[in-house]
Amino acid sequence: MNIINIINKKRLKETLTDEEIKYVIDGYLDGEIKDYQMSSLLMAILLNDMTNDEIYSLTKYMASSGEKLDLSPLGSNVVDKHSTGGVGDKTTLIIAPIVASCGVKVAKMSGRGLGHTGGTIDKLESIPGFIVNLSEEEFLNQVNDIGVAITSQTENIAIADKKIYALRDVTGTVESIPLIASSIMSKKIALGTKKLVLDVKVGNGALIKNIKDARRLSKLMIDIGQHNNIDVICILTNMDIPLGSNIGNSLEVEEAIQILKNNKEGNLRKLCVELSSHMVSLGLNISYEEAKTMVLDNLANGLAYNKFLELIKKQHGNLNNLPKSKNKYEIKSMTEGYLTEINAYKLGLLSMSLGAGRENKEDTIDYSAGIIINKNINDYIEKGDVIMTLYTNKEVTEIDNSIFKISDKKNKDEQLIYEIIK
Ligand code: URA
Repeated sequence: MNIINIINKKRLKETLTDEEIKYVIDGYLDGEIKDYQMSSLLMAILLNDMTNDEIYSLTKYMASSGEKLDLSPLGSNVVDKHSTGGVGDKTTLIIAPIVASCGVKVAKMSGRGLGHTGGTIDKLESIPGFIVNLSEEEFLNQVNDIGVAITSQTENIAIADKKIYALRDVTGTVESIPLIASSIMSKKIALGTKKLVLDVKVGNGALIKNIKDARRLSKLMIDIGQHNNIDVICILTNMDIPLGSNIGNSLEVEEAIQILKNNKEGNLRKLCVELSSHMVSLGLNISYEEAKTMVLDNLANGLAYNKFLELIKKQHGNLNNLPKSKNKYEIKSMTEGYLTEINAYKLGLLSMSLGAGRENKEDTIDYSAGIIINKNINDYIEKGDVIMTLYTNKEVTEIDNSIFKISDKKNKDEQLIYEIIK
């Protein structure tokens, strides 16, 4: 077998065999296949797609490229959740304690942000003292003990995915449905997940820009799940506007606390209730309606917030000293009218430029930096009203004024949840 023939086959839209895909993954891991050859193959895959069988093979070999975790000692009520990535997406911080407070175990391995999207581990790291690198033993013991643990994914899980994802990130090959599906599902297989709720984000701030692609991605991940004994539910959700009002690491922790204290309404809370209810329903084998009642009760009676405090304490975090930035800039409207657009992608880029995200893997993050959006879609804005507030330790001299759109007429309300696919 040879990599040039394999690249040529994909270039000519032919189907790769299981053996050829194994050869690619093994060869790339042991260095025989070079980055430039792998990049070329990834671009051919992005342009010419893959069949389901090719995708199953790719997922299988990426999943077995590292260690596999065995969650079976934790019992059958363990549920995982994964988002395909967005702006202001702090749902894991909220959902993990809600679901654990309902008696469903959450053993969550999360990632860091890259580009315009944030990552749960960076958000948790903004809490002084919080430990994000639990050993496998500490991780499992903690889930057994308090029902929830969140840690960064260990180096040895799905090693091929890690290496390929880093290459995709710098070669314009992230936005490929077969590559996204196999990347996410290979990690879930290696992590020993058996029940999974996937938040498939759709819109300008997401990897997937339209419903048709989101449906295909969801169906693929459900099929891969079926092949691997994983029960998968996909929730297709809006990422044209950011989730909640705060973007940036410690600001997102503060907003998560408001939701867990039951002090805040809006799209973030609504999505967290939806995702949590599906997780609890899967974990306890009860109806969605029964699960939703438990979720709403535990938000109202404080059990979800107490579970969050227990999680923070167990992982040595201290919520009293969340980092604060030196500079604050209020961005005011120059006109009046209805706020009809808040562009998630552009806000993600702005937040990154304030210091809240990384442009390159090695960049350090300013945990205090970010944005608070002070208005909601369809609010009437007067000239001079503060639309958003920027927090940063840098100087801000100019901002993109196409982030918000103000119009004479209201838009129809943004839909938050598009579809649920099982
Ligand atoms: N999340 C992943 O883990 N992989 C992708 O390819 C995209 C989003």
